Amino acid sequence: MKEYKLDWEKYVEIARTAVAEGCVLLKNDNKALPILKGENVAVFGRIQFDYYKSGTGSGGLVNVNYVHGILDGLKACKDIRINEELVNIYKAWCKENPIDKGSGWAGEPWSQVEMPLSDSIVSAAADKSDIAIIVIGRTAGEDKDNKSEPGSYYLSDLEKDMISKVCASFKRVAVVLNVGNIIDMKWVEEYNPSSVLYAWHGGMEGGMGVADVLTGAVSPSGKLSDTIAYNLSDYPSDSNFGGDVINIYKEDIYVGYRYFETFAKEKVQYPFGFGLSYTSFSMETEFYEAEEKVNLKVTVTNIGEVSGKEVVQVYVNPPQGLLGKAIKNLVGFKKSKILKPGESEVLEISVEKSIMASYDDSGVTGHKSCYVLEAGYYELFAGSDVRSATLVGGFNLDEIIEVSKLSEAMAPVNEFDRIKPQRNEKGTFTITMDKVPTRTIDVESRRKASVPSCKEYTGDRGYKLKDVNTGTVSIDEFLAQLSDEELSYMIKAEGMCSPKVTPGTAAAFGGITERLLEFGIPTGCCTDGPSGMRLDSGTNAFSLPNGTLLACTFNTELNEALFELEGLEMRNNRVDTLLGPGINIHRHPLNGRNFEYFSEDPFLTGEMAVAQLKGMHRVGVTGTIKHFCANNQEFKRTEIDCIVSERALREIYLKGYEMAVKNSGAYSIMTTYGGVNGVWTAGNYDQNTEILRNEWKYDGFVMTDWWAMANDEGEKPSRENLAAMVRSQNDVYMVTQDAVTYGDNLLASLKEGTLTRGELVRSASNICSFLMRTPAMERMMGVEREVEIINKPEDQCMTSDFDMEYKKIDEITTISLEGINTDRGSSYLMGITLAKMGNYRISLTASSTASEIAQIPVTLSRSGSDIGTYSFNGTGGEKVTLSRETYMFGVNHYMKLYFGQSGLKLHSITFEFLG
Ligand code: BGC
Repeated sequence: MKEYKLDWEKYVEIARTAVAEGCVLLKNDNKALPILKGENVAVFGRIQFDYYKSGTGSGGLVNVNYVHGILDGLKACKDIRINEELVNIYKAWCKENPIDKGSGWAGEPWSQVEMPLSDSIVSAAADKSDIAIIVIGRTAGEDKDNKSEPGSYYLSDLEKDMISKVCASFKRVAVVLNVGNIIDMKWVEEYNPSSVLYAWHGGMEGGMGVADVLTGAVSPSGKLSDTIAYNLSDYPSDSNFGGDVINIYKEDIYVGYRYFETFAKEKVQYPFGFGLSYTSFSMETEFYEAEEKVNLKVTVTNIGEVSGKEVVQVYVNPPQGLLGKAIKNLVGFKKSKILKPGESEVLEISVEKSIMASYDDSGVTGHKSCYVLEAGYYELFAGSDVRSATLVGGFNLDEIIEVSKLSEAMAPVNEFDRIKPQRNEKGTFTITMDKVPTRTIDVESRRKASVPSCKEYTGDRGYKLKDVNTGTVSIDEFLAQLSDEELSYMIKAEGMCSPKVTPGTAAAFGGITERLLEFGIPTGCCTDGPSGMRLDSGTNAFSLPNGTLLACTFNTELNEALFELEGLEMRNNRVDTLLGPGINIHRHPLNGRNFEYFSEDPFLTGEMAVAQLKGMHRVGVTGTIKHFCANNQEFKRTEIDCIVSERALREIYLKGYEMAVKNSGAYSIMTTYGGVNGVWTAGNYDQNTEILRNEWKYDGFVMTDWWAMANDEGEKPSRENLAAMVRSQNDVYMVTQDAVTYGDNLLASLKEGTLTRGELVRSASNICSFLMRTPAMERMMGVEREVEIINKPEDQCMTSDFDMEYKKIDEITTISLEGINTDRGSSYLMGITLAKMGNYRISLTASSTASEIAQIPVTLSRSGSDIGTYSFNGTGGEKVTLSRETYMFGVNHYMKLYFGQSGLKLHSITFEFLG
C-alpha cells in the first residue's frame, strides 16, 4: 500500500532553501553583496572545487551521487559571469595538488593546502572582474577535536596571504566560510574584506543555496547559533577543555552568550543571534503579561529595498536572587515570512514564565532540587540578536514561586568551585566563586528500591508481539514467555552492517535471533545521522545540511518540513530511526562534533530537535537524539569524565533532551561514550531512569553509543558490564557482532543476583514498545505503509537492495563471479560475512583476450573504502590471479568491484584468512 509520497524535487528545493536560510552574513560594507546581474566574478580558493558537504565520521558518511559546490552554484546562475581564466588556473593547480584525503576515520586533515597566489594572478583577475569571492574550507569530525592551530581553528598562512592579496586588489571581496563550526575571525579586522558569510556545511545541495545568497536570489536571514569571541581563551570553558581524565565545568551555566553578556561583553566579536540581511527591518513590540505567560506581538517591517526574512529573538533577564543568573537567556524566537519592501508581519510569541525558572541545586532558596522563579523583576528583551535586543516589558514577582519539585540526581561527588555573578558598584557583574553542592543521596539505594518485579517465566504460550499491539495480551504476559537467555540477546544489537536489516546500516536490534523472530519481534534498523542516511553498502542517500547550519536558520517549520522528507526516505529504505539529531551543547569551539550539534544555547537546541523529530514522527519514523549527555569533547572520548553541577546539567546540558522528550515525544535516545560525575552515561541510573523516565515520563528506549562502556560507580568502565547498563535502563547495547556469543556479564549477574529478571524484562519491554511504533512492526504485521517517490531523476538516490545475498567466508573461500558484467564503468556489489576478522588475502582470477599491453583496471573497495586496484593486462585468454592483502575489521562487509575498462572476463574472487 503506497500511502506516502516523497517528492524529490521538493526535497531538493527545501534542502536548498535551508542552506540559504542558514547562511549567516557577518559583514557587508557598502552593499558589496549580492553579486549584481551581468557582473564578472573571480572565485578564489581551492575549496571552490572541493566543497565540504559535511564533516567526517558517522555524521558525514552519506554516499551521494553528486555534491553541488559553491562554484557549481554560481555557474548555474545565468545572470552572472565567472572569471574562467582564474577557474582554469585553480583547476590546473588542483590537478597537480590533489586533495589530501588523509588516512581514514579521524585521520583526515581538517583543511587542505591552499594554492599560493602570485600578485600577477590577483591583479589580472581584478582587472577583469567586479567582485572576488574567496572560499575557505574546514571539515571536522568525531574522534578528533579541532585544534588551536593554523589550518584548523585559525587560517593557514596561505589562506591569510590569499585574503590579504585579494583584499588589496579588489574593492569588493566576500569571504565565504565552508566550515562545520565557528573558526577564529580576528583576521576580519586585519584584512577588512567587504563581506563575510558563514556558509557552513550544506550537504549535497550546499553550493546551490550559498549561490542563492551570493547572487541575491535569497536575502540572508541566518543568525549565529554561537557567540564568536575574539580569542579562544575568552571562552569560559577554555581552561577546562581538553583534559584527558576529567574536565571540571567551572563555568557552570555561563556557557556562550550567558557568560559573555553577563561578564565580558567586550570580548565578543560577533554576538549570539547576529546576522545581517540585504535589507533592513524595524520591530515594534507590544507586551502583555498574563497569569502564567508573557505575550509579545512584534510587528516586523521591511524598511529596506529588497525582500527578506527577519528573526525576532526574545530574551529574559531574571532577577539575580540568591542563585545568580545570566543576564540574557533566550526564551523564544520566531522567523518572519518573506517580507517585501514596506511589508509588515505581526509575529506573536508567547513565553511561559516557567521556562524562565532556575534550578536550585544547593537549597539556598529554601527549595532544594526545585525549579524556582525567584522574587524580583523579570525584564524581557526583543530584537534581532542578543546584544541589540531592547527592553520591551517585564513583570514582577513578589515572592519566590516553586515551579516544579524534582529530586537530586546526577550530582557531583567532590567539591569544586563554579562561577557566579556579583554586582559591583557600577551595576555590572564581576565573577565570584561559589562552592558546588555535592551529592547527598545514595543513588544505589534509590536504584535498588525501584527494581521492578516481573511475571515468572512461562515458556512459549503462543503469544506474538502483535497480540500486545492489538491489546490481546499484556507486554508482561508476552515477555514472560522468553527465557533469560532470549531476553539477554534482545538487549544486544548487532552491527555494523548487519545482514539482518537494510545493507550498510549501523545496527539491527530487537528480533535478532530466529527464536525472537518466532515470537513476532521485528528486527529494528537504525543508521547514522544526523545529516542524512549513512549506508555503508554504497547506496546513495540525500545528504542534508549540518546541525549548525540548520540551527542558524532559526526556522522550525523549515526543519520540520525537511525532516519529514528525510523520514520518508528512511521509510523507503526500511530505516526505523536515524541516529540524530545531535543535540549536545557547543561548550567550546574546538569540540570536534560541534558541526553535528546545533548551538551553545539549550533553548534553540531543544526547539530544533523538537522540529526535526516532529517532521520524522509525521511519517512514522523517528530520530535518536544523541549523545545523552554532555558529550562535549572528542579527545579521549571514552575515558573522559565531566565534573559538572546539577544545575548546569539541568539548565544547559539536559535541557534540549528534556524539551525533545516533553514537546515532541522523542522515543529514542543514545547515551555517550564518557562519564558524568563518575558514572559513565551508558550505566547512569540517575540519568537514564530518575531524570529521563521518572521526571520527564519518557516512554521510549535508550541505546548506548557504538561499543561504549558502562561502569559501577567507583569502578573502571568496561564493554562487558552490560548489567550496569540494564540496571540503569539503558536498554540496548550497541553493538555486537553476534548477540548470542558476545562475552558480557548479563547471565552471570542474574545468577549472582546483581541483576534481576525484572530489570531485563523492563528493558526488553522498552525495546518492544519502541518496535511496536516502527515500520518494521508494520512490515511484520503485513500492513507496511510504503512510499512512492516522485519527480526523482533515475540516477539519484537509490532504494537499498533488501535482498542482498551475504556470502559466508571461512579460512579459504572462493566465490564464482562467472557471467557478471565487466563493461567499463560498471560495478558489482556483494555482501560477505566473515567467520573471523583479521588479515585477508583477496585474489581476483580473470582472463582477457585483449593485447598483452592492454590495461584493464579493477578497483576493489570494502564498505566504501578502496582496498586497491588490480591491474590486469591481456592474458591471451588464460586465467591469471592477482592478489592484495588487507585487514578486515568487523565481520560484515560490502565488497564492490569497479571496472575501469572493458575487456575482462572475471572468473572468481578468493578470500584467504592470514591471521
Ligand atoms: C558515534 C555515534 C554514531 C555511531 C554509529 C559512533 O562512533 O559516536 O554518533 O551514531 O558511531 O555509527
